[in-house]
Amino acid sequence: MGVDLLTGTRAYRRRLDLTRPVARQDLLECLEIATHAPSGTNRQPWRFVVVQDPELKQRIGEYYRKGFAAYLAARTPRPDQLADLASGQYLADHMHEVPALVLVCSLGRPPVEPSALRLASFYGSIYPAVWNFLLALRDRGLGSTMTTAHLVYEREVAELLGIPEDVTQVALLPVAHLLPGNDAPARKRTPAAELTGWDGWIADGGAAP
Ligand SMILES: Cc1cc2nc3c(=O)[nH]c(=O)nc-3n(C[C@H](O)[C@H](O)[C@H](O)COP(=O)(O)O)c2cc1C
Repeated sequence: MGVDLLTGTRAYRRRLDLTRPVARQDLLECLEIATHAPSGTNRQPWRFVVVQDPELKQRIGEYYRKGFAAYLAARTPRPDQLADLASGQYLADHMHEVPALVLVCSLGRPPVEPSALRLASFYGSIYPAVWNFLLALRDRGLGSTMTTAHLVYEREVAELLGIPEDVTQVALLPVAHLLPGNDAPARKRTPAAELTGWDGWIADGGAAP
């Protein structure tokens, strides 16, 4: 794995090939790589549900669309976020057509009395596995986007798929082969030097994103 895999893996939406099926073996290999992520005391809390059934995808796609609309309605985007949101809307409109929807779940529920430590332990033990999975996909010419908008309807999706009440969904990952295209030129990020303090907090608080 090279640095370009780490710096070039993007949120893929319009480049998802909606017509080409994704092999179960490819998904399983990438999920295997996901399981090598770190987790607190090596709990390995991840569970995965792969959805390929058209009717189930249709139902989940509807929940996602409604969740994304609620997310959009609740915010006033900055001008530099408009392109991302348009691409987000594209994905919302096509979620049900993506060949495989991978739902990443974590055993347990988020802490009822949250503290910085408990929250870090809960969510920090699952998102590294999500990122491992996304990197493994891209390494094989597949792609996805981390999405969470369906979580407004977490319970409804849990009932649809038989996910127990004490399990938490953390991400819905639409997986497809990547259409040919400009392969993820490194997107502008604030340089680390502007975000890093040495022996103390950054002098000006760090540049706003
Ligand atoms: C916690 C989290 C939740 C996200 N939820 C959504 C989502 O619901 N829908 C979506 O289209 N993108 C979602 N994204 C993707 C971000 O928009 C994307 O990672 C960001 O814009 C950077 O994109 P880039 O890597 O292509 O530059 C989410 C990302 C993260 C980390």
